[in-house]
Amino acid sequence: MKIGIANDHTAVEMKKEVTAYLESLGHEVVNFGTDSTESTDYPIWGEKVANAVASGEVEKGIAICGTGLGISLACNKVHGIRAAVCSEPYTAKYGRLHNDCNILCFGARVIGIEMAKMMLDAFLTTEFEGGRHQRRVDEIMDIERRNSGK
Ligand code: RB5
Repeated sequence: MKIGIANDHTAVEMKKEVTAYLESLGHEVVNFGTDSTESTDYPIWGEKVANAVASGEVEKGIAICGTGLGISLACNKVHGIRAAVCSEPYTAKYGRLHNDCNILCFGARVIGIEMAKMMLDAFLTTEFEGGRHQRRVDEIMDIERRNSGK
């Protein structure tokens, strides 16, 4: 799978470890930065990976900041994005199964690489279930359409 990854200064090392893991599984990883540990603003990087997912340049995205929260808020401002902040694999799995999330976010200051790997496995191998969940996801996307341009 072609996967985009982005992070702020808190998560450069985590991004490298995640990238190595994903590549070891045979995925192609596109790096949207940052590769610097100098203080930066997470919305810059969240928007980059979110745009790549929304345009179809990459199939899924991974976005990492200190908590995972700030970068997820930025990602979710891009139309078509459903970014999930997770700290364990159950939410990562159900974020795909029920919510059709297309970006996995987490905090480099919250979880370690082994937990990240478990969440990545759950997120990347779980298909959206559809059915009644499709209706609910459509309702979320309707909110986005109704509120665009405001
Ligand atoms: C940076 O200090 C930190 O605020 C950022 O990485 C993130 O946790 C924000 O949500």
